Amino acid sequence: MSKLVALPLSQLNLRKSEKWREFPADVLPLPVAEMDFEIAKPIRDALQEMISGSDTGYLGPIPELGINLAKFAKARWGWEVDPEQVFTATDVGVGMVEMARTIVNPGDSIMINSPVYHNMNNWISELKCISHDVPLTKSGLEYTLNLPEIEVGYKSGVKIHFLCSPHNPVGTVFTKNELAELAELAKKHGVTIFSDEIHAPLTYSASDFTPFLAVSEAAREVGICVTAASKSWNLAGLKCATIITAHPKQYDRAKSMPAAVHFRASLFGAIAAATAYECVEWLDDVIETLDSNRKFISKLLTEKLPTVGYRTPDFSYLAWLDLTRLDLGANPRDVLLKDAKLALSSGIHFGPTSGQFVRLNFATSEEILSEAISRIVSLA
Ligand SMILES: Cc1ncc(COP(=O)(O)O)c(C=O)c1O
Repeated sequence: MSKLVALPLSQLNLRKSEKWREFPADVLPLPVAEMDFEIAKPIRDALQEMISGSDTGYLGPIPELGINLAKFAKARWGWEVDPEQVFTATDVGVGMVEMARTIVNPGDSIMINSPVYHNMNNWISELKCISHDVPLTKSGLEYTLNLPEIEVGYKSGVKIHFLCSPHNPVGTVFTKNELAELAELAKKHGVTIFSDEIHAPLTYSASDFTPFLAVSEAAREVGICVTAASKSWNLAGLKCATIITAHPKQYDRAKSMPAAVHFRASLFGAIAAATAYECVEWLDDVIETLDSNRKFISKLLTEKLPTVGYRTPDFSYLAWLDLTRLDLGANPRDVLLKDAKLALSSGIHFGPTSGQFVRLNFATSEEILSEAISRIVSLA
């Protein structure tokens, strides 16, 4: 394994993606979840071959996607995925919404657990449903699912639970036991669990993560996994996610979605994802790089900003920072943007009680991370 080198700022500034286009040039952007590394060579080669051959048509059957995903899931987590039960969608958001449409009607309740990936609430609005938030239980820097309150919610008629597993932004991987208990509760109360596992391949210790559909018979019965290669291999702009089922009831629901859910994904995205699931060496290199960065942040904070709360995340490249003790006012993110020219994601978007938090994307170089922390220090 070897660490990846982030592209230099001069090159990153020329990128056309959201991270590099949203803010003026003097702002250091570390919000949206994109990585500053080159993507894996086999993916670049596959895409370049398609472009050279003008192979730029619609998305048709891509059996290699389900097959490669199944091989990856088996090798990584011992999870048996049936390639026949792998469906495509434009992105995770579309997959969650279109699958949910097969179950809910406007006005129904969908559970989330804040602080959580902010678009989950947008998906619920898109479905014209009602968000039923059962916040995670916080104990110091640790977060867990509040199973008793979740059961109260399930009993009150929640139809679907949007689970973020592993959980962005708090950086926690749920235990197999927690997930097994959740599955039993969902089965008892007729709730369907949508497990958004987009960050799972970036779990630092792969054995810590249990895919929801590998938890138990009950989980396979009540669960639907929505995931993508886009976060772990940095392919979000290519547009392709997967919906995975493991039970006839959920399979029939997936089959009942309009055919367009499949072909509205992109051919490039599907080929890139199929190729990505074979790029395990690159994934391990990126994990090694991010592992070093998550520890580097810890070191920088200990040295320069010891009052900032930071729990080294179990997966991915998002640092959830508690800035309460810096006393930066009601919305620290806005102050950091205006006065320190540092763009982070505001905690308030993830839940009603996390206004003093910011989320920092550390999939970049140590130089950029040092500069980011210095910019926070300048206001402390
Ligand atoms: C938990 C989670 N789900 C979904 C997404 C977005 O996925 P997509 O762009 O495929 O909708 C993100 C992006 O960061 C995320 O963190």
